[in-house]
Amino acid sequence: MAEPNETHKPPYYAHIVGWGMAVPEKVMTNNDLSAFVETTDEWITARTGIRQRHIASDSESTMTLGAAAALAALQMGSLHASLVDLIICATSTPECVFPATASLIQSEIGADNAGAFDLSAACSGFVYGLQMAAQSIRSGAIDTALVIGAETMSRVLDWSDRGTCILFGDGAGAVLLQRSEQPGGVLSAILRSEGKNAKHLGIPTFGSQDLDLHHDAINGHKLGKMYMDGQEVFKFATRVLSEGIKKAAIDAGIKPSDIKLIIPHQANLRIIDAAARQLGFDKSMFYTNLDRYGNTSAASIPLALVEAEKEGRIKKGDYVAFIGFGGGLTWAASVVQWTGAGAVPRRTGPLKQLELLQASAASSLRRIRRRYGSLLNRIRPEEGRIERLKRRMDQVEELD
Ligand code: UT7
Repeated sequence: MAEPNETHKPPYYAHIVGWGMAVPEKVMTNNDLSAFVETTDEWITARTGIRQRHIASDSESTMTLGAAAALAALQMGSLHASLVDLIICATSTPECVFPATASLIQSEIGADNAGAFDLSAACSGFVYGLQMAAQSIRSGAIDTALVIGAETMSRVLDWSDRGTCILFGDGAGAVLLQRSEQPGGVLSAILRSEGKNAKHLGIPTFGSQDLDLHHDAINGHKLGKMYMDGQEVFKFATRVLSEGIKKAAIDAGIKPSDIKLIIPHQANLRIIDAAARQLGFDKSMFYTNLDRYGNTSAASIPLALVEAEKEGRIKKGDYVAFIGFGGGLTWAASVVQWTGAGAVPRRTGPLKQLELLQASAASSLRRIRRRYGSLLNRIRPEEGRIERLKRRMDQVEELD
C-alpha cells in the first residue's frame, strides 16, 4: 500500500532541445606544425585524418568557449539562462582546479538559478555528463540542464612532443536538456573505467603522490603537460568502440543496425574505420569532422553533433549513438532518440517575466564589465589622480 504522502510521478524523459558550438578563429594547419616539430602533413593526414585544428588566442579560454557554446544552445532551445537548473562542464583543461569552469560559465551566461560543477572523465566526459544530467532530469529532481564539453588543449600540450601535439585542438560544444513526459531523448548510457591502465594517458598535477616538486615532474612526465602512449590508447579505443555501441543499443531496446548515425570521439580516423569494420557498418554511419578540428577531447562529440545536425544528417525520431573514450582509461556510450530544437514550453507569470528580464539585464552588464574591464582599470588611475588633485586643492584652501 502506498504511504499517505507518497507521490506518483509519471515517467520522465530527458530530451536534447538545444545545441551549440564555439571554436577559436585561429587555425593551425599540419604544415604550420611542421615548422616547429619534425613531422609532415602527409604523416599526420595518413596516420590520423587530421588536417588542421583551432587554437585559442590569449583572450580565449575554456570558459569563454564553453559560455559561447552554452549561449548558442540556449538560443537554439529558445530558453532563458535563468531557467537552467544544472550546468555540467566536462573538461580536462579547466580555468582553475577551483572554482569550477562550470561556475564561471554559469555567471557569464546569467544562469542565476543553476548549480554548476566540472566533470573529469577526459575524452569520455561529455557522455558522462549527458548521463548525469539525464538521470537528474528523469528522477524529477530538475527540469533543465546544460551539458558542456569545453577544452583548450593547446595550453596543456608539450609542443616539442610530436606524438601528442599534432593531435589536439581547442573548442566547445553544448547541449540543452529538458524534462518531458513524451518518450524519447537520452535512452541509454553506459559508463566504464579501466583505471588499471591509467598510466597510458594523462596530465600530471599537484595532487600526485609521485610529484617531484624540485624537478617539476611526475614519474618523468612534465607537470601540467599531456603525455600519451599512443599505441596502447589506440588498442584500447578500437576494442571499446564497437563494444560500447552494441551495449548502448541493447540498453536502449534497439538493434545496433537501427542507429541512424554514430558520433564517435574524434581521435583518429583509423580507430573509427576499425570500429566500422568490426560492427560490419559502412563508414558513412560514423560522422567525422576531425579533419578540421583534430581531437578536442571532451568537446569533440558535441562539436561533431552540432555539425552533423547542421548538415542534415540527423532528423526528428532518429536514433543517434555517442561513444567517447580516453584518459582514465574511460569509455562511455549513449543512444539518444533525436527530438529537435525548441524547449518544452513553460508557464511564466508576469512576476517570473520580470525576474527573467532582470536576470538578462544583469548578465549582459556582467559580460560588458568582463569584456571592457581592462579598459575601465586603465581609466581608474586617472580618476585617482583627479581625486588626489581635489584633495590637494582642498588642503591648500584650508591652509589659506
Ligand atoms: O583522445 C584520447 C584518445 N587518444 C587516442 O585515441 C590516440 C590513439 N593513438 C593514435 O591515434 C596513434 O597511436 C598516434 C596517431 C598517436 C600515433 O600513430 P601510430 O601509427 O601509432 O604511430 P607510432 O607511434 O607507432 O609511430 C610510428 C612512427 C615512429 O617512427 P619509427 O619508430 O617507426 O621510425 C614514430 O617515431 O612514426 C613516428 N612518428 C611520427 N612521424 C612524423 C610519431 N609521431 C610522428 C609525427 N610525425 N607526428
